[in-house]
Amino acid sequence: MYTTGVTPQTGVWWKPAHRSEKVWFTIAFIWCMVLFAMMPLWHLKGGQNPSGIRARVDPTAYRERVQQFIADYQVGKDENSGIPIVAPPPGSDIYLQGQMWMWLPVLQLQQGAQYTLHLSSIDVNHGFNLYPFNVNFQVVPGYDYGLRITPTEAGDFRIICNEFCGVGHHLMVGRVIVVSMATSSTDASTGGDR
Ligand code: CUA
Repeated sequence: MYTTGVTPQTGVWWKPAHRSEKVWFTIAFIWCMVLFAMMPLWHLKGGQNPSGIRARVDPTAYRERVQQFIADYQVGKDENSGIPIVAPPPGSDIYLQGQMWMWLPVLQLQQGAQYTLHLSSIDVNHGFNLYPFNVNFQVVPGYDYGLRITPTEAGDFRIICNEFCGVGHHLMVGRVIVVSMATSSTDASTGGDR
């Protein structure tokens, strides 16, 4: 329903902002500037940021690198999947390949040792989720994502794919074994020279 008799006023429709409006604008502007400043600050200071290195990589070249990595440090095979178990020396560059629908290889790491974990895919996008921890990374074909990691807990962990990658997505479960510091010397001797 329209009421008659109210015609919009022509001429000056603009009125100076009310005082409370100015106050809110000022508060909003200051808050915008705070958030703006926090973007770079978080990046530099925040503990949540990955200490990653990124590089382009050809998927075929990455696959070859992974095969070489397996050939260098393989210590066995996963009894269920047949996927090679690889025990690289502490401090080394280690490689994990995402593909439809598996993670290659099984990594056997030492607790407290530092590694540079390279992640890439040879086909489509996958998601690296280290279960049961809140560790999530995109695994993208054509990109090598290198993460400096130090396993702090010993155990037998799973890598879950959390990026939908086709009919076998739910079957894409990988494995990371972290050997405790107490037993790592014996494991290193079986894994190191072979
Ligand atoms: Cu790989 Cu989902």
